[in-house]
Amino acid sequence: MTGFVARKALDAISPYVAGKPVEETAREYGIDPAKIVKLASNENPLGMSPAAKEAAVRALSTGARYPDGAARDFREAAARFAGVDPDQVIAGNGSDEILGLIARTVLSEDTRCVYSQYSFSVYEISARECGAECVEVPTKNFAVDLEGILEACDEKTRLIYLTNPNNPTGLPLDKAELVSFLERVPADCVVVLDEAYGDFMDEGLRTDSFALLKRFSNLLVTRTFSKAYGLAGLRAGFGVASRELIAMMNRIRPPFNMNSAAQAAAIAALGDQVFLTRVVETNRTECERLSAFFDELGLTHLPSEANFIMVHVGPKAADVNVEMLKKGVILRPLKSYGLPEYIRISVGSPEENTIFMQAFREVLAQL
Ligand SMILES: Cc1ncc(COP(=O)(O)O)c(C=O)c1O
Repeated sequence: MTGFVARKALDAISPYVAGKPVEETAREYGIDPAKIVKLASNENPLGMSPAAKEAAVRALSTGARYPDGAARDFREAAARFAGVDPDQVIAGNGSDEILGLIARTVLSEDTRCVYSQYSFSVYEISARECGAECVEVPTKNFAVDLEGILEACDEKTRLIYLTNPNNPTGLPLDKAELVSFLERVPADCVVVLDEAYGDFMDEGLRTDSFALLKRFSNLLVTRTFSKAYGLAGLRAGFGVASRELIAMMNRIRPPFNMNSAAQAAAIAALGDQVFLTRVVETNRTECERLSAFFDELGLTHLPSEANFIMVHVGPKAADVNVEMLKKGVILRPLKSYGLPEYIRISVGSPEENTIFMQAFREVLAQL
């Protein structure tokens, strides 16, 4: 007897596997936490904008009060950024929450959710929580197969999750193919375009997703402040869609889901595009540096448009990961994504990447 009866749908869910925390690694391997380099969760190695930090600290002085439950100032700032009406924006405790809210808005036991193989595991968790049938469409040489996703859609399909660029591959969706895909998706099926890493993409490869909202009333674009804006610990994200869809999601959104510090920091972060440009430029330079390093080692890796690189390490990937942990470098093994021979490495600061490269070279030589 366990004293409770969990919903049957939860039987099919494996908990989310997160990057290994610094404190846990320090404890397990007896390493000074200050010396640990974490390249496992695609966080921002440059931290957050000083303006965002200041705003968050200022917000603490009213921390005894509930935040604005409607997150009005934040939604207005996000709406200005996206060129939409504030009623088209929903605030989230991270974009994870938006990904879950949309599932709970449109999915139930008699529906289907479709997404690509090798995509963010929160999609499957969110859909399964609602009891929906999940269809994972195989990639073509790691690229999302949009035609295959369309073929997997039946009359019960109510939700499709797409990521641009994708995690963990780092590959972008082709602009023209995406638009053609949206034109052919049934109008009663919501398409989530998760742009958690969109800020890192090459300008020429980007899709103006906010403009697409005018054409496609079934589109929901999600953005996060956890990556390029460096607010992962504060939890801030948002979704943009039609007023009608946002209103429906708001019916089940927890009342004060975005805390005061996150609201204040996110507004300030949006206002500091100079910091964002520095983040994106540093990431590009360092991503190229890491790519050249993997080329030199003869390791296959995917061309990334994000702030991480997926590398083929081979059958010893799990051992390489453990040896790297012993040296105080946390990486993300991709076994939980069904890629046991691959490791994902977040692009760190120039100093962190130098430490990573030295340790990685030593570990490969030793195994
Ligand atoms: C593809 C993708 N979407 C969404 C998220 C969620 O980010 P957050 O909840 O921190 O906004 C992540 C985080 O790793 C991600 O990789």
